[in-house]
Amino acid sequence: MPPRVLTGIKPTGRPHVGNLLGAIRPALRLAEQGLEAMYFIADYHALTTVHDAKELAHLTREVAATWLALGLDTDKVVFYRQSDIPEIFELAWVFSCFTSKGWMNKAHAYKAIVDAKEAAGETDVDAGINMGIYGYPILMAADIVAFDVDLVPVGKDQVQHVEIARDIAQRINHVYGKDPLRLPQAKLEENSAIVPGLDGRKMSKSYDNTIPLFAPAKELKKIVNRIVTDSTPPEVPKDPDASTIYQIYRAVASQADTEAFAARFRAGIGWGDAKAALFEKLDTELGPARERYNALMADPVKIDALLAQGAAKARITARRTLDRVREALGVGR
Ligand code: ADP
Ligand code: TRP
Repeated sequence: MPPRVLTGIKPTGRPHVGNLLGAIRPALRLAEQGLEAMYFIADYHALTTVHDAKELAHLTREVAATWLALGLDTDKVVFYRQSDIPEIFELAWVFSCFTSKGWMNKAHAYKAIVDAKEAAGETDVDAGINMGIYGYPILMAADIVAFDVDLVPVGKDQVQHVEIARDIAQRINHVYGKDPLRLPQAKLEENSAIVPGLDGRKMSKSYDNTIPLFAPAKELKKIVNRIVTDSTPPEVPKDPDASTIYQIYRAVASQADTEAFAARFRAGIGWGDAKAALFEKLDTELGPARERYNALMADPVKIDALLAQGAAKARITARRTLDRVREALGVGR
């Protein structure tokens, strides 16, 4: 059996060029290497922060349409919505009964919020934190372990969560001695470069500095024009690597085009010309996928049908896992 890989995508914002380079492309490539891949939209994880019904539904569709438009083949990848798999949530409850509260206190997303509040001198460090945020890693553990997963490709910030999943599964296996659960391992995605955003910091929705993958051409042009540059005159030779424009260009262009663009920087290029070239490149590279994306967004029934097919496949494995767990626990007999 080939190893099974699984990863979740939280629908909390419009997918951007950084996501393409750091997450979407590597995941699609992995799925082409003969591994058994399961990718899902973690909509119930997004519920920890998105409390607007329309927005959550829209973001979920956007993420699904983005992956499909960029080439995810639902015949090869099991692609589904987390909320369509009820077994995950039953398993999450079971897992919570084997998770030390202390582990959750140390989980980084929760701890980061608490630390920030402490640093700001706030007295009630738990204010505004719901139990969904606190127990986030438990739901994530169920996402993973429900599907007998071997590898979980994630960025550095999620490695701890995968380790928690492993610890929970291990604890249950140890208590019941029948090894009902497969232990997952994180696969750290570290080789992809970080794409900078409009202001030069890491492109991230938290910084509001992103280039959305499928913005209409007119909006895309405006966004590209917002990239922050300095006042170096056009004719002065420039270091491409020091330029946000170049680094974003490199994320979508072929190697040959990237090298040619770098040469223009070294010869001296005006920022206006560099931005125009970047816009053209984004528009041509992403244009065909943008058309597919728009067609999908105009046909939500199709997206839902594809996700439902994926969920039906995924549920078979989740059901088996849950049955083994319930048997081990002595539940429902
Ligand atoms: P954001 O920072 O916009 O909230 P996420 O944290 O949701 O993005 O990241 C989703 C995935 O995209 C992760 O795997 C992350 O490593 C990748 N990613 C996000 N931003 C970038 C970036 N600027 N460059 C490369 N990869 C990125
Ligand atoms: N927590 C992940 C993130 O913020 C998303 C996620 C949810 C996930 N469940 C998962 C990732 C299971 C991998 C496996 O990016």
